Amino acid sequence: MKVKKAVILAAGMGTRMLPSSKVIPKELLPVIDTPAIQVVVEEAVASGITEIIIVISPGKNTVVDHFKPNLELERHLEERGKRVILELILRSNNPARITVAEQRQPLGLGHAVLQAREAVGDEPFAVMLPDDIFDCPRPCLRQLLDVAETRDAPVVALLKVARSEISKYGIVDAKAAGDRTYELRGMVEKPAPEKAPSEFAIMGRYVLTPDIFELLAAGKPGAGGEIQLTDALMALTSRRKIYGYEFEGIRYDLGDRVGFISAQIGFGLKRPDLADRLRAYLKSVISQE
Ligand code: G1P
Repeated sequence: MKVKKAVILAAGMGTRMLPSSKVIPKELLPVIDTPAIQVVVEEAVASGITEIIIVISPGKNTVVDHFKPNLELERHLEERGKRVILELILRSNNPARITVAEQRQPLGLGHAVLQAREAVGDEPFAVMLPDDIFDCPRPCLRQLLDVAETRDAPVVALLKVARSEISKYGIVDAKAAGDRTYELRGMVEKPAPEKAPSEFAIMGRYVLTPDIFELLAAGKPGAGGEIQLTDALMALTSRRKIYGYEFEGIRYDLGDRVGFISAQIGFGLKRPDLADRLRAYLKSVISQE
């Protein structure tokens, strides 16, 4: 299979990051100086995706506006000779073909994916959740796409999580099927730890086939009363093989306060322009404890 399209889900209400997400969509909150949505779009583009569908809820247009040129700002920076900042701004202008789909009611992740059905059409596609961002030797989505292309099958990102974290995620029943690769026999959304089939959690990167849409459309509300992507994926396992891939790299959960702070520090320590000062600051704070 060849995957050209990615669906980025940005329709959530951001309740986990209130009050900062009261007016500003949480997808525009920064990782240092770059909005999460741009970090995810750049991962998609670096993975070879050329068309992106962003699913938003009403009132979240600024998430998409971020990728439009701001000519006045560009002129201002140009006139003042601020080339470096200008280059930075230009990087966020139309990095791919970006279109929008709207989820008018908050009926769940699966329902949000379904809103991109028309834009995706009858071809395989990626799904990306901008709460999850990655620092990987190769882009996380690219790692999944390699497996999906070789096996000609859907693939989800997997990460082993602590028992105490299990009830936050979709958890899979996985059978080893090659290097870091697992065949998925089942999965359950947000189980109690004692009911979980394994400690492998699904992270917010998926490569899917278009037959998922009819399963989503027929989907009944599951965990939390929402139409769950995990339930449709579970139904898909009886039709075709689905794989999980234990990606190489670090994942940050931007929807969690400590995850959000960790991402700023983790990515900050990798920035040549910031690392020395940040490291010195961290050392000084730790030595005071
Ligand atoms: C969603 C999915 C869940 C997955 C998680 C990854 O949950 O429903 O299966 O494990 O993303 O971050 P949410 O974080 O939207 O509750």
